[in-house]
Amino acid sequence: MVTVDTAAAFTTLENEYTPQYCLQLEAAYGPGMMSEGGAAGIEQIFGDVPLHGKRLLDIGAGLGGAACYLAAKYQARVTGLEVNSWMVSEATKRIPQELKNAVDFVLSTSNSNWPMASQSFDIIYSKGVLTHVSDKNELFVECRRLLKADGLLIITDWLSSESKKWGPNVARLVELEKLSLFAESESGYCATLERNGFSVLSVRDDSGSCIEWNRQIIARLQDPALRESHLKVMTELERVAAIEGYEAIIHAMEQGEARMVNLVAKVKDRGGPSPF
Ligand SMILES: C[S@@+](CC[C@H](N)C(=O)[O-])C[C@H]1O[C@@H](n2cnc3c(N)ncnc32)[C@H](O)[C@@H]1O
Repeated sequence: MVTVDTAAAFTTLENEYTPQYCLQLEAAYGPGMMSEGGAAGIEQIFGDVPLHGKRLLDIGAGLGGAACYLAAKYQARVTGLEVNSWMVSEATKRIPQELKNAVDFVLSTSNSNWPMASQSFDIIYSKGVLTHVSDKNELFVECRRLLKADGLLIITDWLSSESKKWGPNVARLVELEKLSLFAESESGYCATLERNGFSVLSVRDDSGSCIEWNRQIIARLQDPALRESHLKVMTELERVAAIEGYEAIIHAMEQGEARMVNLVAKVKDRGGPSPF
């Protein structure tokens, strides 16, 4: 059996997502965002799932862009969970005054025992995060505990092909960005969800949007009018490397080496009184 030292994994992630690196991601992805698509990318996570007034949990909330967007647009009450303590502070600082009662950010030090009451969320979502989690079992069990009986778990994540291996384009991205990305196939992902008490309702391939958004990011990073603002957060060498990284993502998606996939799952019938 493969065992994962979660504490070591979290320390690595903290090292990967330095403040400087996150500012560079934000320059590419837009204010508060550390993944592609901006508002369209956030909306696409949920499709036609109603969000108005819902209680939401964002796993890997980053700088908090999605949480604040959803609270403002849908009057949702959103908690963002993060393994990086500096991001919890930064995202908290950035909550607009009018959303202070609707959004909060909480530090996570493991993939279980999160400091929230059982069955308290309508929707748990995550965008561009779980590919960093090598063993998702514990985390899905915790999501099941936190979801209401009719709650939904909605994940947008990077998957590999069925080989469960990345290819040369993701390898180059990892080399450039020094990120830990764990390869998981669609069937493997669904099996892990099912094993941990979820029924998978839908799986949608969003790679086409991902390619388009990454093309837009490259255009922004190459725009001479934005050069000055980019150079405030990255050196010229870092800008060139970032462009190569986004090109690698496009090639990986075009060649089926990586896919951006949206999965919607619901809690399987708990069968009798709640065990939580
Ligand atoms: C690519 S960023 C995406 C951030 C945010 N979801 C967004 O779209 O802007 C990945 C984030 O996941 C966080 N993360 C990674 N593993 C995590 C875990 N097990 N629990 C919570 N957050 C995690 C990282 O610290 C980082 O902020």
